[in-house]
Amino acid sequence: MKRFKNKVVLVTGAASGMGRSSCLRLASEGALIYGIDLDDAGLAATAERVRSAGGTMEVAVRDVTSKDQCVSAVNEAVETYGHLDVLANVAGVCRFGHAHAVTEEEWNFVLAVNLSGPFFLSQAAIPALIESKGNIVNVASVFGVTGQAYSAAYCASKGGLIQLTKSMAVEYAKESVRINAICPGSTNTEMMAGIDFSEDMDWNLIERATKAAVGEPEDIASAIAYLASDEAKMVNGSIFVVDNGLLAG
Ligand SMILES: NC(=O)c1ccc[n+]([C@@H]2O[C@H](COP(=O)([O-])OP(=O)(O)OC[C@H]3O[C@@H](n4cnc5c(N)ncnc54)[C@H](O)[C@@H]3O)[C@@H](O)[C@H]2O)c1
Repeated sequence: MKRFKNKVVLVTGAASGMGRSSCLRLASEGALIYGIDLDDAGLAATAERVRSAGGTMEVAVRDVTSKDQCVSAVNEAVETYGHLDVLANVAGVCRFGHAHAVTEEEWNFVLAVNLSGPFFLSQAAIPALIESKGNIVNVASVFGVTGQAYSAAYCASKGGLIQLTKSMAVEYAKESVRINAICPGSTNTEMMAGIDFSEDMDWNLIERATKAAVGEPEDIASAIAYLASDEAKMVNGSIFVVDNGLLAG
């Protein structure tokens, strides 16, 4: 399949996990990738893998919490390839901890990466996407839909991202710009490996989220590729759950 021949895709979180898998998947279908992340070495590794598989990828170290850097990233993607067809907001952070102990700094940090970043990037990308009749795919989480203990900031950020998706989908539908969100369940990435359950947490509150089988980042990349492709031309404002049935039960 070459659903993305000559399509330009800006991917955030491109150094790791789902972002890296998305770069590989979309490039294998012909996309020209502009990948951003904080992790220079991870970006270089992703670009190397894309190029050695015959794909095209440019990278830049950019922080999605900075509105200026979001604007720059969009401008650079357009300058590099001439247009922009897809924005994939994949970068994210997760912090586990008792809600009453979350500091102002931690709260602001999680909201800045998971919610403000996708908003700043979307704002910056909209003019180019109106021109290309392109689309945005936001990676939210099942924890943007259902509550998860010890994750107040994360749940709030992902719930906010889902509403951001719906609001912008309604607003730009007439201009033929589609905006969708994916809600992954547990997925085998650095983020999941790094979650720190401390001993004073009640495992019974966490356990139900571990009932469904863990997915791979490639499973999410497939969903991103579908939503970003013309095959999904009727899909707009959708909250696409990829969780092995977790939310169904
Ligand atoms: N892994 C899971 O179980 C799971 C489940 C549901 C949703 N998600 C979501 O999927 C997305 C991808 O996560 P992943 O599992 O691939 O994690 P990951 O940690 O492997 O990758 C996240 C990437 O985001 C980058 N990043 C973080 N802060 C950034 C910033 N300020 N600017 C630019 N880049 C930044 C990191 O450097 C990293 O490369 C996230 O939005 C996450 O919340 C993950």
